[in-house]
Amino acid sequence: MDTMASPAPAALEVAGIHKNFETFSALRDVNLCVAPGEMLCFLGPSGCGKTTLLRIIAGLEVQTGGRIVQNGRDISWLPPEQRDYGIVFQSYALFPNLTVADNVGYGLVNGKLRKPEIRARVQELLQLVGLPESGGKYPSQLSGGQQQRVALARALAARPGLLLLDEPLSALDALERVRLRDEIRQLQKQVGITAIMVTHDQEEALSMADRIVVMNHGQIEQVGTPMDIYERPATPFVADFVGKVNVLHGQALGGKRFRVGSMEIECPSCDGHFERGQGVSLYLRPEDRLAQHLPADTPHRLDALVTRVEFLGGLCIAEVTSEALDGQRLGLQFSLNQMHDLGLCEGRRIDIALRAQRIRVFASPSQARP
Ligand SMILES: Nc1ncnc2c1ncn2[C@@H]1O[C@H](COP(=O)(O)OP(=O)(O)OP(=O)(O)O)[C@@H](O)[C@H]1O
Ligand SMILES: [Mg+2]
Repeated sequence: MDTMASPAPAALEVAGIHKNFETFSALRDVNLCVAPGEMLCFLGPSGCGKTTLLRIIAGLEVQTGGRIVQNGRDISWLPPEQRDYGIVFQSYALFPNLTVADNVGYGLVNGKLRKPEIRARVQELLQLVGLPESGGKYPSQLSGGQQQRVALARALAARPGLLLLDEPLSALDALERVRLRDEIRQLQKQVGITAIMVTHDQEEALSMADRIVVMNHGQIEQVGTPMDIYERPATPFVADFVGKVNVLHGQALGGKRFRVGSMEIECPSCDGHFERGQGVSLYLRPEDRLAQHLPADTPHRLDALVTRVEFLGGLCIAEVTSEALDGQRLGLQFSLNQMHDLGLCEGRRIDIALRAQRIRVFASPSQARP
């Protein structure tokens, strides 16, 4: 488990948080540090505790144990209204009977600002989220994406120190989701606000986060940059959950060497220790193959049969099997151009090599094959 603190002083610290719902343990010993201006994504499958953790940070849920410290202030037991954050939910949660401008300015009316200042701030925020003309409209007159922009403007209105977002994009259609995720990220950087976003969409997390917190069953599996998480997953769960991956079953031969079928594979980036003969799982990403102009001495080379081609647009997945791997299947990624160049189609044999330096090795949960 990697829960190392980031080097900058923390904008938010989550220390030893756990949460029980009666006998059910929803969060266990969660520790995190968020750096100022950082965008953190909580990523994990449904029910893993993402929302519960966010709600505890917001004071909307009370932790069973542990502490939340924001900029050095212990806020663990403060009610939500005494904490310093803005929040956006999945459902737009705007007041339907208030105009867009009144929604955005809602949190400002009882503050220190006078009416003209509130008006100016609201206009500034609407400009910021690309809706400068929509102040007089009502939420029902806006699209889902526009409503979410208004919710974002409302969350930022009082210049909070922390922006919390719980699946803000998941109610939107695919195109709007991508557009708004770019906008949110840009805006977050522009404003310089520390942000935590919950998502179960790996692509969203990979594209938006400075660091991703991968959660599973109420615990943190790994914290790291998107590249770390994708290239150096710390656990089989992370490797499986983030990105596509092939799992080859084999045995340890000692050192960094492994056997899969009749093939010996040297995995230089393997950092675990495995007993000789121990069952292992080798995790290989679909893009980690060589297929064109292979020199004769290319290591980890094999002859494979294409059993299926999945056309996905600019990228395709070719499913292949090879006797050398004991018939274990691999899904390999090719660009459409490569697919044409190689004449990839069902029934075709191809000459490929595994990029073994990219393989991650984990102990096999089950016994290795004979
Ligand atoms: N008020 C509650 N009472 C009892 N159990 C709860 C309560 N709130 C959440 N849980 C349980 O805690 C676990 C974590 O829930 P949570 O909503 O945090 O998951 P999540 O990761 O946000 O999932 P999703 O992606 O589906 O939103 C779930 O098993 C859920 O059923
Ligand atoms: Mg949730």
